[in-house]
Amino acid sequence: MRNVLLIIILVGFFLCLSGTARHVLSISEGAEIDVRKLFKTHCIPCHGEDGKGTDLGKGLGTPDFTDVEWQKTRPDTRFVEQILNGSEKMFPFKDKLNMEEVQALVVYVRQFAKK
Ligand code: HEC
Repeated sequence: MRNVLLIIILVGFFLCLSGTARHVLSISEGAEIDVRKLFKTHCIPCHGEDGKGTDLGKGLGTPDFTDVEWQKTRPDTRFVEQILNGSEKMFPFKDKLNMEEVQALVVYVRQFAKK
């Protein structure tokens, strides 16, 4: 009985995951932006692959992107502003990324809290 439950939970989990993957994919296809690659290139050194922050990032004070409550306190405009202009701790990306790429990254940052 316990195994059956476990299988149901696992299947549900993977269905959710594939849903997220499709979502991200459709965004990158529509705008022809590979947002996963962008995040990997520019953001992972501090924010980590899972969005929780690397040791380097945490040392600087990166927020945990998987924290639903934290996400709620932040409007999209705040994220856009941060990515374009940076902060004391995070350098700006306005010379490296265009607006579409920045918006795709905001969506990408949001999905860390949806798993
Ligand atoms: C040098 C390390 C570093 C890199 C690289 C970096 N960040 Fe950050 N980021 C930080 C730190 C530190 C904070 C939190 C402190 C702050 O706001 O200054 C932060 C905060 C944020 C926030 C939250 C802003 C808020 O509302 O407080 C977002 C969104 C964000 N980063 C997105 C990105 C994206 C997207 C990239 C890649 C394009 C990126 N960061 C690259 C260090 C980094």
